[in-house]
Amino acid sequence: MAAKKILLSEEDVPKRWYSILPDLPRPLPPFIDPETKAPGVGIVPKIYPKAIIAQEVSKDRWIDIPEEVREVYRLWRPTPLFRATRLEKALKTPAKIYYKYEGVSPPGSHKPNTAVAQAYYNMKEGIERLATETGAGQWGSALAFGCMMFGLRCTIYMVKVSYQQKPYRRVMMEAFGANVYPSPSDQTESGRRILKEDPDNPGSLGIAISEAVEDALTHEDTNYGIGSVFNHVLLHQTVVGLEAKKQLEAVDDYPDVIYGCIGGGSSFSGLFWPFYYDKVSGKAEKDTRFVAVEATACPSVTRGEYTYDHGDTARLTPLVPMHTLGHDFIPPPIHAGGLRYHGIAPTISLLVSEKKVETKAYNQLDVFDAAKLFIRTEGIVPAPEPAHAIKGAIDEALRCRETGEEKVILFLLCGHGHFDMQAYDDYLSGKLSPYEYPKEKVEEAMQRLRSLYPWLNELKRYL
Ligand SMILES: Cc1ncc(COP(=O)(O)O)c(C=O)c1O
Repeated sequence: MAAKKILLSEEDVPKRWYSILPDLPRPLPPFIDPETKAPGVGIVPKIYPKAIIAQEVSKDRWIDIPEEVREVYRLWRPTPLFRATRLEKALKTPAKIYYKYEGVSPPGSHKPNTAVAQAYYNMKEGIERLATETGAGQWGSALAFGCMMFGLRCTIYMVKVSYQQKPYRRVMMEAFGANVYPSPSDQTESGRRILKEDPDNPGSLGIAISEAVEDALTHEDTNYGIGSVFNHVLLHQTVVGLEAKKQLEAVDDYPDVIYGCIGGGSSFSGLFWPFYYDKVSGKAEKDTRFVAVEATACPSVTRGEYTYDHGDTARLTPLVPMHTLGHDFIPPPIHAGGLRYHGIAPTISLLVSEKKVETKAYNQLDVFDAAKLFIRTEGIVPAPEPAHAIKGAIDEALRCRETGEEKVILFLLCGHGHFDMQAYDDYLSGKLSPYEYPKEKVEEAMQRLRSLYPWLNELKRYL
């Protein structure tokens, strides 16, 4: 009888994070300052602590995890790795399916792996408050939790449509001691400007980022915390993959393929980077494939252009080398709130362009069908975001049924869906429809970006 749940002990909480930067097939293209059209980081040093900036650009492969951070991690880490035996049986597949479950953290997802680290480094450098944006509310609850652990105050700009759809996430953030505003809000210049033009604006992650960054820029005691995209965030998530490797070793298995959902790319990177390291350092037992899954409603990597764009709507951030749907992207209100960001981590963009990472996009109806099968076999209600990875893993297992291959499939269940009951209600009562973001809208956004920066194509030489 195969082990169902593979556990590690507290001592197995990793002591170091792994950084992919020294192992990328080519150096990461620089950020560009749109004022000078040259490499530059703009406002970045004004809103992050020095330790985080050092990690963002570090060439070190291994970075020590401070003991104070490990101590908080131990509240829920190591997280379990499950063998999905009941799902395998239902699919009649010869494949073995494993999933790493991050929903056991107090806020319910992988996000506190970086939130706790960010709060710690800010506290160490004398910062008293962090400001941030949140979409689905997962990142907001994680940062509120991290700040609470290290005695910082926390201000959260929550995308208005999620604020309305997910009131209980807001309450959770408030229970952790944070102040939460629906974004666009009247708290910032950028929020007020948008509300004046369009009082019913549903908000977007890009707008909420503008508000949080502005808040940090205009208050001495306040820095900004980011939930995804940047290198240091992905770095902090590698505890996930490092543990998963050890857990698979314990049952003498190694993945042929790894699936993860991508909003900004942090959870998926956290899982696959340590396996990528095995591959580039010649230690891998197999030629593992890495597959990033996104929503057809927000197809940053599968339909977006690999170019330079701002990370936020108000264009406060420098130009970031990434696949983008345009910084003025207003996402359709699908339920996978965490996947509605217009861009993606520069490391993912580079690895996709070098064909080291494969991509897939699924519509929300197919994704919820997969989630339903998962719930009814494995018993865990997944967040809509990782349900995209479940769909990828199920399709792979079904292909194995056709070919007879006994592949080992690993995917990341990066959060539970206990706050997503409205989404499940809509799905179960037949109200969800499949949605694809039209190609023409991406082209229009790219034209707007080019008319803003007619020299944009010159930057392609960095990509
Ligand atoms: C549960 C969950 N999964 C995935 C994501 C997507 O982010 P990332 O790609 O950085 O993991 C989010 C973002 O909010 C999330 O809350």
